[in-house]
Amino acid sequence: YTVAMDATDISKGTYDSYMSKEIDEQPAVLRRIAKEYYRDQQPVISPDLIAEMKQADRIYIVAAGTSYHAGLVGQELFEELANVPAEVKLASEFGHHLGKLSQRPFFIFLTQSGETADSRQVLVQTKALKYPSLTVTNVANSTLARESDYALLLHAGPEIAVASTKAYTAQIAVQAILAQALGQALNYQPKHPIDVLNQLGLAANAIQTVIDQKDKLEKLTEDYFDKHDRAFFIGRGNGYMVALEAALKLKEVSYIHAEGFAAGELKHGTIALIENQTPVVAFILEEATAAHTRGNVKEVVSRGAHTLTIAKKSLAQSDDTIVLDDLNELLMPLVAIIPGQLFAYFAAKHRGNDVDQPRNLAKSVTVE
Ligand code: AGP
Repeated sequence: YTVAMDATDISKGTYDSYMSKEIDEQPAVLRRIAKEYYRDQQPVISPDLIAEMKQADRIYIVAAGTSYHAGLVGQELFEELANVPAEVKLASEFGHHLGKLSQRPFFIFLTQSGETADSRQVLVQTKALKYPSLTVTNVANSTLARESDYALLLHAGPEIAVASTKAYTAQIAVQAILAQALGQALNYQPKHPIDVLNQLGLAANAIQTVIDQKDKLEKLTEDYFDKHDRAFFIGRGNGYMVALEAALKLKEVSYIHAEGFAAGELKHGTIALIENQTPVVAFILEEATAAHTRGNVKEVVSRGAHTLTIAKKSLAQSDDTIVLDDLNELLMPLVAIIPGQLFAYFAAKHRGNDVDQPRNLAKSVTVE
């Protein structure tokens, strides 16, 4: 592979941090991915890779950290668009507990850097077992890209900030394209088809709309996060997946203790932590669970929580804090994570933290 890179890819330009620049690049990244992966409106994926994946009775997505959170979204996409059972595994756990695999597994290693040791040690084992593998990565000549049978590039451009932002959205996009291509090759007619190419364009615009509201998001960061040392993020379905990633972003750059919870799990224990003014961010992204999540918001409000709701337009109420343009529900994480990334960035900046190089962290974790 060769990847075109110019000086603007690796300079901060007028930005105060790479994280801020990389958040802003996301609309362009999605448009670039659409350009790279489509010809005449059709997804272009190597026929050998698709032929190999068609044999699979189960897809195992192996990843760590933010890539794991993108994998959670991908799992649903493979099941919905290709009708192939899929599951996501934390690399650091899976490597030590492979468990009972399906008869014909296919392994996808999701890794921005392509160097994560936890993911690589799983690949070493699956290769020894002669199982086929694909690495989805941002770095063409990385270790995992070289050692797996196939590689797909994220085309996100170099991600310099330790906190991953544009790689997350790129990973969701590339998984959606791959799931669509696989579904087509299997002649599967999804119950709710998704025009992925069109959705990527809509997502780019929807992300830009959030980025254009930075002043409001900075003010919300002051109101909700700057004065506190903890925050909760809740949601159901895709909202839960985004909650996990938004919490990780806030933790790693602002050092605020944040947790993402499945909204329905609150009553099973976590609600005991809610006190007067505890910040709770709720994602309302899917129709089937919106009413339930709204019910959970009421429960925490009645215990004094300071709640901030992020809802997709078609499910929004007049008192929602942030309203997101509608995408297909399975792809809502593409836009719903943007406020989470910006809260983390502003909170870190306001605290005077090193936004791009948070304490104790490395960009690629090359030890197990
Ligand atoms: C993301 O913000 C983190 N710094 C971290 O969780 C990261 O996603 C994880 O280490 C996996 O890295 P990879 O995608 O390069 O494999």
